[in-house]
Amino acid sequence: MSLSELHVQHLRCIEAAELELSPGFNLIWGDNGAGKTSLLEAVFLLGRGRSFRTRHTEQLIRRSTQRLTVFGRTAGPIERGVGFAFDRDTGVEARFDGLPVKSLVDLTLAIPVQVIDPGIHKLIEEGSHRRRRWLDWAVFHVEHDFGEHWYRYARTLRQRNAALKIRPSDARPWERDLATAGERITHARRRALHDLERHWRQVTARLDCPQADLDYMPGWREGITLAEALDSARARDEMRRTTSAGPHRADIRLSIAGKPAREVLSRGQQKLMAAALSLAQLRLLKESVGLVPTLLLDDPAAELDATHLGAFVEEISTLGCQLLATALQPKIQGFQVPDRVFHVEQGRVRPV
Ligand SMILES: Nc1ncnc2c1ncn2[C@@H]1O[C@H](COP(=O)(O)OP(=O)(O)OP(=O)(O)O)[C@@H](O)[C@H]1O
Ligand SMILES: [Mg+2]
Repeated sequence: MSLSELHVQHLRCIEAAELELSPGFNLIWGDNGAGKTSLLEAVFLLGRGRSFRTRHTEQLIRRSTQRLTVFGRTAGPIERGVGFAFDRDTGVEARFDGLPVKSLVDLTLAIPVQVIDPGIHKLIEEGSHRRRRWLDWAVFHVEHDFGEHWYRYARTLRQRNAALKIRPSDARPWERDLATAGERITHARRRALHDLERHWRQVTARLDCPQADLDYMPGWREGITLAEALDSARARDEMRRTTSAGPHRADIRLSIAGKPAREVLSRGQQKLMAAALSLAQLRLLKESVGLVPTLLLDDPAAELDATHLGAFVEEISTLGCQLLATALQPKIQGFQVPDRVFHVEQGRVRPV
């Protein structure tokens, strides 16, 4: 998959921009604060419905304007148009070929996009939420009914939690559905992580990244079913008024010789490891469903030494992804000559 056109309006410092993208390597360069990362955020919004920099999408709306819009057209025999808007009053609106989308999962499937940015180490360093989201993005693509189970689980969890807050005795009827959807999610995630393992070993070896073991922690005690876990946690859940067991509490544990990776790795190594996780994921998608997402690289040369950067670039080039990379200069150390170059200056974008 690649994007052939990108239109952006009222996003951060960008008033309006139109880019005709190459299916190969697109370089976006300009000074600090010019709007380079904002353009990558625009693409990410199309495919994920959120930014990779903030949870607060309203922060992306250009100051003193009401609504940001992004439109993208995909290349290929069948062109598809995806639109995303965020309004200060009405929130998200997303369209696929002109029709409103039911859920953001539809965007995920229509515009597969992955990002490697200077904040990527948070995937290793911070809480389990980021790692679940990282894994789930791949599972949505490789397991066709994952989206359905995921939504059913999320909805049932909200209902059980609401009951626990209002009248705990009403929580029990939700448990059967919760357990069924939760087990399905767990199986799908375990399968995807298992299939990822081989790519992970290969990518880490090629990037000369420390080898870490990946273990899926399901979010409840091993050896019992989710139904049993919900049953045995009921008294505690009623007291705390929230559901304590289930895949919404799962984690992907990364350990090196039995120690948590975040405690033994340097910042640069964490970045390399997080990048390796995402690259392994791209390999998995390519191999298992023939999907080649668009890859956003925000300032990729930062914090990697020449040897690791060389291996990183090599690894990316074998994937054959459409690339959108940012830099302060019209070239990036270690990268090939770009197919298309855009210069950004105070929110204005022009092809070079
Ligand atoms: N809501 C907003 N409205 C208007 N301007 C904004 C808004 N949010 C951020 N900005 C400005 O938009 C610019 C965004 O820059 P962006 O992060 O895209 O720059 P960049 O080219 O990636 O810079 P760097 O090289 O430092 O990473 C900044 O100058 C910032 O102050
Ligand atoms: Mg930037």
